[in-house]
Parts: sequence; C-alpha cells; structure tokens
Amino acid sequence: MGQDLLLEMKGICKSFPGVKALADVDFSVAPGDVHSLIGENGAGKSTLIKVLTGIYPRYTGEIFLDGEYIAPANATESQAEGVSTIYQELNLAPYLSVAENIFIGHEPRRYGMIDWKSVRRKAAEILADMGVDGVNVAKPLGEYSVAIQQMTAIARALSFDARLLVMDEPTSSLSETEVAILFNVIRRVKARGASVIFISHKMDEVFEICDRATILRDGKLVGAYSMSEMTKLKMVSLMIGRDATSVLHNKKTAYVSKDDSQTLLAARGLQRGRKTRQIDIDIASGQVLGVSGLLGSGRTELAKILFGDNVPDAGRIDYDGRQVHIKTPRDAIRLGMGFCSEDRKAEGIFPNMTVMENMTIGVLDDVSRFGVMSAGAQLKIAEKYIEKLKIKVSSPGQKMRELSGGNQQKVLLARWLCKKPVLMILDEPTRGIDLGAKSEIEEIIAELAGSGVAVLMISSELEELVRSCDRIAVLSDGKKVSELSGRGISEERLVDIIAHGADALEGPRDA
Ligand SMILES: Nc1ncnc2c1ncn2[C@@H]1O[C@H](COP(=O)(O)OP(=O)(O)OP(=O)(O)O)[C@@H](O)[C@H]1O
Ligand SMILES: [Mg+2]
Repeated sequence: MGQDLLLEMKGICKSFPGVKALADVDFSVAPGDVHSLIGENGAGKSTLIKVLTGIYPRYTGEIFLDGEYIAPANATESQAEGVSTIYQELNLAPYLSVAENIFIGHEPRRYGMIDWKSVRRKAAEILADMGVDGVNVAKPLGEYSVAIQQMTAIARALSFDARLLVMDEPTSSLSETEVAILFNVIRRVKARGASVIFISHKMDEVFEICDRATILRDGKLVGAYSMSEMTKLKMVSLMIGRDATSVLHNKKTAYVSKDDSQTLLAARGLQRGRKTRQIDIDIASGQVLGVSGLLGSGRTELAKILFGDNVPDAGRIDYDGRQVHIKTPRDAIRLGMGFCSEDRKAEGIFPNMTVMENMTIGVLDDVSRFGVMSAGAQLKIAEKYIEKLKIKVSSPGQKMRELSGGNQQKVLLARWLCKKPVLMILDEPTRGIDLGAKSEIEEIIAELAGSGVAVLMISSELEELVRSCDRIAVLSDGKKVSELSGRGISEERLVDIIAHGADALEGPRDA
C-alpha cells in the first residue's frame, strides 16, 4: 500500500456543527496524475482539500504522502511537505507587488537579507515560464485583473517546487487563452513527475486535462474512475445521484419572440477611456440581452457604467423614456436596477453575518417598519430564496463563511433577486455554480424576463448565452462589434465573431 501512490487519504471524516461535511472518504492520487474532485456545490470538495492542507487540522482518518503518515496541522506545515495550494477564494495582498505576492514568506535571501532584486527577477521568470506576458512584477497586484491575480496565485504555488499542486476552481475567472496557459503549466508540472488535484465545475476542462476523477456526493465517496472510462452523462449522473439526461439536454426552445417588449434603457455613444468605446445598447423589458466577448473586451466595464460604478466620459443614457445621469450605484438602485457582480469579494460578502442577513441586507428598508426590522419578514424572504435557489444551508441563521463557494454565490444572487429590480445586470451569474444548479439559474433568468424584468447578462459560457438570450451583443476591445438576435443566435456565429472581431460583420446580418 502507499508504494505507488503519492497521496492516500483514508476514512476521512470532518464535521461542522450540524453538518457532516465528509463521511469516511477515501481519496488517492498517483504520481504524475492530474486528478479531479467532482461534486455538486457543498459536496465536500473544498473541505477535503482543507483537511489535506492543514486548514482543518481536526479530522479523523489517515493521510499518507509518498507512503509516509502525515497529519497536517497548519498550512505552512503542509507546504513544507510539498503540497502547494491555490484556494477557491484567492488569498493575496492587493497592495503588495506581484513579486512580493509570489515570494512572500519564502523570499530569496542574501546574507540573511531579502534580496529584492532576485525576488523580482525570479518572479518575472516564473511568470514568463508560464507564458504570462505584460506583467510588471514591481507593481501592486491590485492594479491587475482577477485573471492576472489568479496567475499570480498559481506562480506562487509553483515557486514552492511542490510534489502535489492543489487547485480549487482555478479557472473560474480565466479566459480561454488563460485556461490554455494554465493547462500548459499543469502539463509541465505533470512532466516533472508531480501531481495535480484539479477542481472545476466545467466538464470540458475536466475531460481535457484530467487522468482520473473522484466523485463526492453529500460528503460521501461515490467512487474513483479513470477518465478513459468516463462519459459526461455518467459523470454528472454519478455526481447528482440520478440519471442526468434531463440536466444535460435541457435545451429549452431558445427563442420566443416578444414583439411587445418595450425599450427600458437606451444607451448611445458610451465612452470611457479605452475600455468602452462608442457603445450603443438597448435593453428591453421582458428580454434577456446577453453580452459576450473575451475577458478584457469591456463587458464588465460596460455593466459598471450602466450601474453608475463607473462614470462615462461621453454618451447618453435614456431610461424609461427620459435622459438620466447615473453617477453612483445608489442612483442606479433608485431607478430599480440591480447588479450581481462577478467578483464575490468586491460585492461584499459579510462572512460573519448570517445567510439571512447577507441575503436581505438590500431590502431592509422594505421589510422594516418604523425603522425596526421585522425578523419574521426577513426570515420569510430568506426561506423563500433558499428553497428557490436550492441553497445548501443548515438554517437561514448559518454564518455566511460556513457556506461552500457555490452556495455563497447563490446567496448573492438572491440578495438582488429579492429586491425585485426592473433591470437586472448579471455578471457571470453561474460562476462556480454546479451543473445542476446552472440550469436552475437559467430557469430563474427566464422567469425574470417572463415577469417583465429587463435582464443584461454577461457570460463567458456561450452555450448559456445561446440558451438564455433574446439578443446578444458581442464586444471586442471595448467596442460593440456585432449584435445577434432571434434565430440568428448560435454558438458557431458567436465563436466566429469573437475570433474574428469586426471582420465577422461582413457576414450575413440579422434584422
Ligand atoms: N467552516 C464551516 N463551518 C460549517 N460548515 C461548513 C464549513 N465549511 C464547509 N461547511 C459545510 O460543509 C459542506 C461542504 O462544503 P465544501 O465547501 O467542502 O463544498 P464544495 O464541494 O467545495 O462546494 P462548491 O462547489 O460550492 O465549492 C457544505 O455543506 C458547507 O456548508
Ligand atoms: Mg468549494
């Protein structure tokens, strides 16, 4: 036993008050393997990783690394054993430089002093090795995009020369190009004989990069499988514990013509720096407008302008038939707009407050009478959305920080839904959400539109856009290069336009 396995975890149990997060789970990884952990939101993937990496030192069960018994007591110890981790919630210091973030705590030293020159040189080397260009490692990390921050976390993990690299949803905010870079890095790590644990809700990625997969359901082991004997249908079925045909083939008839829908918001010539250039956009009540394009194409910037988080240099916005000046999010909210951001941290999770409080924080005015909040009303809202979005919690009073990543995401979505906006902006609403729950969220979006809400949805997942949207605007380099509508919407066309930018405008256009 243990001989030809790099990692062997046996009979792992981990409980939290009211939840058995892991019940007698076995998990093993062979040297040089990329091994996936698969399961729904709240299945126990991150918890298993945190046991391995010393974040949760109180567990029962045994862990062997390279045949040797280990009992990781804290993160530093686990790192010293050669296990390097990128957590689901990035743990970086935005005000420190990129180089410092990569080497903090294990900086190269000369005569006992930190050798800053070589810190920067080595940091630049690692990034160059990964194929990441255009980063000035002396600049504060906070000045870079979430994607670069993610790459920095990966560079940090690589800087430890790990035997086992653990990645908990590393691709959730990466573009396709960056995912390709990451996969090259993974292949290099593998070629060195090290192993990788790779967690992702994106099936295509798992099939592309992984050798084996271990499936968890409700904290229990379902089984471990070789990817060569796996199909998507089998994997999802094992993950949800029933036949997944309906989940995978939930192709609702994409387009229902809604001729009576009214334009709610019309933007003309929106301009802000070089990120948003002369954009015209119309959002209609009862319709879903998709925004597609590569990471960095200006999708989030556009959403932020509409929501008053960014003020445009030029352009005009008409709302409900009259010109408006949206200078702050408060202005936007007053107009009935909601904005569920792609960045969970920036959005403001209050980790030590309850799920109920996190969810209803935006409607306190509505549920309070004479300035006193009715706990009953608050609870009713929370219970409704917990059921509707199938949020996995022990009670509405559970602390937000105790929820799995995907379930926190659902709470934030609920925060906006319960405000009942007339215009809902959703930036990557299904990021980190498991496959089953994705189709539920798509249903909710359809329901919103059905009830007359105007929806603007940004997504990197083309399938999702094609299924949900009445129209799709494609952005490239801050400009709108195309808009598809109705039957003109297809994944192929989107791919084509995104790949060829404005050139694709030459092709057949839709009315
Ligand atoms: N610190 C904690 N206190 C209480 N319960 C917790 C804590 N951490 C996790 N849990 C619970 O343990 C279960 C497993 O959570 P975990 O984060 O491992 O899920 P996951 O598989 O990583 O899900 P996701 O795909 O959403 O990231 C969930 O029910 C979660 O609420
Ligand atoms: Mg997780």
